[in-house]
Amino acid sequence: MVCLGNICRSPIAEGVMRHKILAHGLDWEVDSAGTESYHIGEQPHRHSQQVCRQHGLDISSQVARKFTKADFDRFDIIYAMAKDVYREIESIGGGRADMSKVVLFLNELNPGSDASVPDPWYGNEDGYLPVYRMINETCDVIIEKYKN
Ligand code: 4NP
Repeated sequence: MVCLGNICRSPIAEGVMRHKILAHGLDWEVDSAGTESYHIGEQPHRHSQQVCRQHGLDISSQVARKFTKADFDRFDIIYAMAKDVYREIESIGGGRADMSKVVLFLNELNPGSDASVPDPWYGNEDGYLPVYRMINETCDVIIEKYKN
Protein backbone atom coordinates (compact mmCIF):
# COMPACT_ATOMS: atom_id res chain seq x y z
CA MET A 1 0.00 0.00 0.00
CA VAL A 2 1.80 3.11 -1.19
CA CYS A 3 1.01 6.83 -0.93
CA LEU A 4 3.18 9.95 -0.82
CA GLY A 5 3.92 10.48 2.88
CA ASN A 6 3.01 7.07 4.33
CA ILE A 7 1.22 8.89 7.14
CA CYS A 8 -2.37 9.47 5.95
CA ARG A 9 -3.74 7.06 3.30
CA SER A 10 -1.47 4.01 3.05
CA PRO A 11 -1.25 3.45 6.85
CA ILE A 12 -5.07 3.17 6.90
CA ALA A 13 -4.88 0.71 3.99
CA GLU A 14 -2.20 -1.32 5.77
CA GLY A 15 -4.17 -1.46 9.02
CA VAL A 16 -7.50 -2.28 7.36
CA MET A 17 -5.98 -4.96 5.15
CA ARG A 18 -4.03 -6.56 8.00
CA HIS A 19 -7.24 -6.78 10.02
CA LYS A 20 -9.12 -8.44 7.13
CA ILE A 21 -6.22 -10.84 6.44
CA LEU A 22 -6.35 -12.00 10.06
CA ALA A 23 -10.15 -12.21 10.05
CA HIS A 24 -10.05 -14.43 6.95
CA GLY A 25 -7.15 -16.55 8.21
CA LEU A 26 -5.05 -15.72 5.15
CA ASP A 27 -1.25 -16.01 5.09
CA TRP A 28 -0.71 -12.75 3.22
CA GLU A 29 1.85 -10.13 4.14
CA VAL A 30 0.89 -6.47 3.95
CA ASP A 31 2.99 -3.38 4.44
CA SER A 32 2.86 0.29 3.48
CA ALA A 33 5.36 2.88 2.33
CA GLY A 34 5.57 6.40 0.91
CA THR A 35 7.29 7.68 -2.19
CA GLU A 36 8.47 10.84 -0.39
CA SER A 37 10.88 11.21 2.53
CA TYR A 38 9.28 13.99 4.62
CA HIS A 39 7.73 11.78 7.29
CA ILE A 40 10.07 8.80 7.56
CA GLY A 41 10.00 7.38 11.11
CA GLU A 42 6.72 9.04 12.06
CA GLN A 43 3.53 7.39 13.31
CA PRO A 44 0.40 7.63 11.14
CA HIS A 45 -1.30 11.05 11.15
CA ARG A 46 -3.43 11.49 14.27
CA HIS A 47 -6.61 11.69 12.21
CA SER A 48 -5.73 8.46 10.40
CA GLN A 49 -5.15 6.84 13.79
CA GLN A 50 -8.41 8.29 15.06
CA VAL A 51 -10.61 7.09 12.19
CA CYS A 52 -9.08 3.62 12.49
CA ARG A 53 -9.61 3.60 16.26
CA GLN A 54 -13.26 4.53 15.69
CA HIS A 55 -13.50 1.33 13.63
CA GLY A 56 -11.70 -0.82 16.19
CA LEU A 57 -8.23 -0.74 14.62
CA ASP A 58 -5.02 0.35 16.35
CA ILE A 59 -2.46 1.51 13.77
CA SER A 60 -0.34 3.47 16.25
CA SER A 61 2.64 1.10 16.01
CA GLN A 62 3.06 1.61 12.24
CA VAL A 63 6.10 3.66 11.26
CA ALA A 64 6.48 5.62 8.01
CA ARG A 65 9.15 4.41 5.60
CA LYS A 66 10.11 5.17 2.05
CA PHE A 67 9.21 2.91 -0.87
CA THR A 68 12.35 1.38 -2.35
CA LYS A 69 13.32 -0.56 -5.46
CA ALA A 70 13.61 -3.70 -3.26
CA ASP A 71 9.85 -3.57 -2.69
CA PHE A 72 9.37 -4.62 -6.33
CA ASP A 73 10.97 -7.97 -5.42
CA ARG A 74 9.43 -8.28 -1.99
CA PHE A 75 5.74 -7.95 -2.96
CA ASP A 76 3.47 -9.56 -5.55
CA ILE A 77 1.15 -6.56 -5.84
CA ILE A 78 1.98 -2.92 -5.17
CA TYR A 79 -1.07 -0.71 -4.72
CA ALA A 80 -0.67 2.96 -5.56
CA MET A 81 -3.21 5.10 -3.69
CA ALA A 82 -3.19 7.76 -6.42
CA LYS A 83 -2.01 8.50 -9.93
CA ASP A 84 0.84 10.77 -8.83
CA VAL A 85 1.97 7.98 -6.50
CA TYR A 86 1.93 5.55 -9.44
CA ARG A 87 4.25 7.85 -11.37
CA GLU A 88 6.58 8.22 -8.38
CA ILE A 89 6.75 4.43 -7.99
CA GLU A 90 7.64 4.20 -11.66
CA SER A 91 10.38 6.76 -11.17
CA ILE A 92 11.82 4.94 -8.12
CA GLY A 93 11.81 1.74 -10.20
CA GLY A 94 14.09 3.52 -12.63
CA GLY A 95 12.86 1.86 -15.81
CA ARG A 96 13.92 -1.67 -14.86
CA ALA A 97 11.15 -2.49 -12.38
CA ASP A 98 8.19 -4.73 -13.13
CA MET A 99 5.41 -2.14 -13.40
CA SER A 100 2.88 -4.90 -14.09
CA LYS A 101 2.88 -5.41 -10.30
CA VAL A 102 1.75 -1.85 -9.70
CA VAL A 103 -2.01 -1.35 -9.58
CA LEU A 104 -4.00 1.81 -8.97
CA PHE A 105 -5.80 0.87 -5.73
CA LEU A 106 -9.27 2.17 -6.63
CA ASN A 107 -9.24 0.25 -9.91
CA GLU A 108 -9.94 -2.83 -7.78
CA LEU A 109 -13.18 -1.16 -6.63
CA ASN A 110 -14.08 0.48 -9.95
CA PRO A 111 -12.10 -1.19 -12.73
CA GLY A 112 -10.83 1.21 -15.35
CA SER A 113 -11.82 4.30 -13.35
CA ASP A 114 -8.19 5.35 -12.81
CA ALA A 115 -9.40 7.26 -9.75
CA SER A 116 -7.18 8.38 -6.87
CA VAL A 117 -7.85 8.18 -3.13
CA PRO A 118 -8.12 11.88 -2.20
CA ASP A 119 -5.26 13.10 -0.04
CA PRO A 120 -6.74 14.13 3.33
CA TRP A 121 -3.42 15.81 4.28
CA TYR A 122 -4.57 19.01 2.59
CA GLY A 123 -7.97 19.22 4.28
CA ASN A 124 -9.41 19.00 7.77
CA GLU A 125 -10.46 16.10 9.96
CA ASP A 126 -13.66 15.56 7.93
CA GLY A 127 -11.66 14.21 5.01
CA TYR A 128 -10.53 11.06 6.81
CA LEU A 129 -13.82 9.17 7.16
CA PRO A 130 -14.65 9.06 3.42
CA VAL A 131 -11.06 7.98 2.78
CA TYR A 132 -11.38 5.24 5.39
CA ARG A 133 -14.65 4.05 3.82
CA MET A 134 -13.33 3.82 0.27
CA ILE A 135 -10.19 2.04 1.50
CA ASN A 136 -12.27 -0.40 3.56
CA GLU A 137 -14.58 -1.17 0.63
CA THR A 138 -11.67 -1.67 -1.75
CA CYS A 139 -9.88 -3.99 0.69
CA ASP A 140 -13.04 -6.13 0.82
CA VAL A 141 -12.96 -6.42 -2.98
CA ILE A 142 -9.26 -7.38 -2.92
CA ILE A 143 -9.85 -10.05 -0.27
CA GLU A 144 -12.72 -11.57 -2.28
CA LYS A 145 -10.68 -11.45 -5.48
CA TYR A 146 -7.55 -13.19 -4.20
CA LYS A 147 -8.58 -15.38 -1.25
CA ASN A 148 -8.57 -19.23 -1.71
P1 4NP B 1 -0.29 10.66 2.40
O1 4NP B 1 -0.55 12.23 2.64
O2 4NP B 1 0.45 10.55 1.10
O3 4NP B 1 -1.67 10.09 2.31
O4 4NP B 1 0.50 10.18 3.58
C1 4NP B 1 0.47 13.18 2.63
C2 4NP B 1 1.17 13.42 3.78
C3 4NP B 1 2.13 14.39 3.80
C4 4NP B 1 2.39 15.13 2.66
C5 4NP B 1 1.71 14.88 1.49
C6 4NP B 1 0.74 13.90 1.48
N1 4NP B 1 3.38 16.13 2.70
O5 4NP B 1 3.51 16.88 1.69
O6 4NP B 1 4.09 16.30 3.72
